[in-house]
Amino acid sequence: MTADSLQPQITVLDAGGQYCHLIARRVRELGVFSEVRASETPADELTGRKGIIISGGPSSVSAPDSPTVDPAIFALGAGVLGICYGQQLMAHLLHGTVRKGAKGEYGAAVLNIHDSSGVLAGLSPRENVWMSHFDQVEKLPAGFTTIASTSTCEVAAIADPARRFYGVQFHPEVVHTAKGMEVLSNFLFPICGCEKDWDPRGRIASLEREIQAAAAGRNIFFFVSGGVDSSVAYRLCLRALGKDRVHGAYVDTGLMREGETEFVREALGVEVVDARQEFLDALSGATDPESKRHIIGEQFVAVQERVLQSGHYLDGEWILGQGTIYPDTIESGGTAKADLIKTHHNRVAGIQKLIDENRIIEPLTSFYKDEVREVGAALGLPDELLHRHPFPGPGLAIRLLCAAEAAPIVKMGSGRLVPVRSVGVQGDERTYRAVLALDKVIWNDSLLEQATHLINRHATINRVVALCGTHHSMETMQVAPGRLDRVRLERLRRADAIVRRLSHESGFDGSVWQFPVVVIPCGAGDRPDSVVLRPVHSVDGMTAQSVLMEDGLRDRITAQLLAVPGIAAVFYDLTHKPPGTIEWE
Ligand code: XMP
Repeated sequence: MTADSLQPQITVLDAGGQYCHLIARRVRELGVFSEVRASETPADELTGRKGIIISGGPSSVSAPDSPTVDPAIFALGAGVLGICYGQQLMAHLLHGTVRKGAKGEYGAAVLNIHDSSGVLAGLSPRENVWMSHFDQVEKLPAGFTTIASTSTCEVAAIADPARRFYGVQFHPEVVHTAKGMEVLSNFLFPICGCEKDWDPRGRIASLEREIQAAAAGRNIFFFVSGGVDSSVAYRLCLRALGKDRVHGAYVDTGLMREGETEFVREALGVEVVDARQEFLDALSGATDPESKRHIIGEQFVAVQERVLQSGHYLDGEWILGQGTIYPDTIESGGTAKADLIKTHHNRVAGIQKLIDENRIIEPLTSFYKDEVREVGAALGLPDELLHRHPFPGPGLAIRLLCAAEAAPIVKMGSGRLVPVRSVGVQGDERTYRAVLALDKVIWNDSLLEQATHLINRHATINRVVALCGTHHSMETMQVAPGRLDRVRLERLRRADAIVRRLSHESGFDGSVWQFPVVVIPCGAGDRPDSVVLRPVHSVDGMTAQSVLMEDGLRDRITAQLLAVPGIAAVFYDLTHKPPGTIEWE
């Protein structure tokens, strides 16, 4: 389902840049409905657009198979803005030339503006911008002039005002370009003549009408996870059709955080399906990540299938609601995980049947995550639900590490090799390797660099952690067999709740993107496990940076965790992604 009659005024053509969704989001923040399309979208599918933006991308225009655009877009009469690779591609297609730069220009740069008109209207003669390129435009196409330069890039912005074609080598969409929003606003309003037509909250009434029309008298069934997207989609449908016609089910796998099930039940009023025992039984023999994931996937399928059958949701009068959002619908965009999650759901035969019969309703497919949150807030969903960190579908199971057999911890260089294997990602491959623990560290940012260096040097490891506090010296600790059982799961749940509370009270949780708490089977005596803290910065989970916290908070968290029965030590993960993944699995 798309936003009903609303037509995009701006199309961002995706030339493979990581920033294309960011450009579309910025345009929407300026109040103009925009979409992302594949770069080679035929021009006749873009008639009626007021403006077209060609995004950046990693290629060289001269490289074989580099992304291009349909040259007929330049004859549509719409304004065109090329950004970074987009500027080079526009110059190339309009018969200018592009050459390899003498050196790359990455990061902050000063833009010297020769002509502050067009997209640069209202800017000062010198502005701070963000650059990320190697190639640059050499000879301008006929009709263009250079309107700005930097010290390493002569052609940093170009204009052909008569045709309303503009190019910028810098990235106006990133926050590091101080006047980036002014540049985009200049393009949208005076140059393209866009009108403000986009406000996610203002879409609620028309979304309700669309839901009513698409449901066509049938009822809607949802599996909600407690995540933002499915919760907001569910609440929208509830509002559109009323509670008699919308049913939500939440599967309690027993792998959720403390208080989560009660919270979801109260915040959303959904039916809770108690499957705790069957998940635990199924997982009792599993130790390696792949089999845990596989078992969880299978159990989800079995439970969902049962719910669908027993509630008669496969009957003709029901359709399935889903919380799919805009980036999930675009092949080139979104995250790889979105695909994974989709495959996982598709495996449920009942759901596949509903999809095949087109009995599916996805009210949020034209929204970005931030916009979904705005809609959710307008629907009265609690902040706690709307601003939570991402939480993986398999839940705590991928944060509770298991071991099939005992193994010693041995000295390795300046630390100790802990033979608990966790997942990592190096190059395009997933790795499954041991951890190096540093037991005497000075807490400062150089630790993170040291960790990267150590992982590059030792092929046996993919992670480095630092010891925060312990009951036992590391010499007396060992890795012992540990399974996914009730006792260990409770231990992790408690540790996670402590960390969540302290990081929330201190405000630290607001400064990180996600903060997994992991339990590993490493300890001594009646304290067989240790906790690893894994706070990270990220934009979309595809890459991430480990983040240190201030000493006082780390000490408080450590002290409280060491008071939990069964916990021997607390470690801090110093590994970026790559080479470590966010989750340990
Ligand atoms: P990794 O561990 O691959 O995780 O660095 C990247 C992001 O994806 C989340 N994640 C998942 N989310 N189902 C989900 O909904 C999953 O199976 C899953 N596995 C990992 C992880 O929490 C992180 O945000």
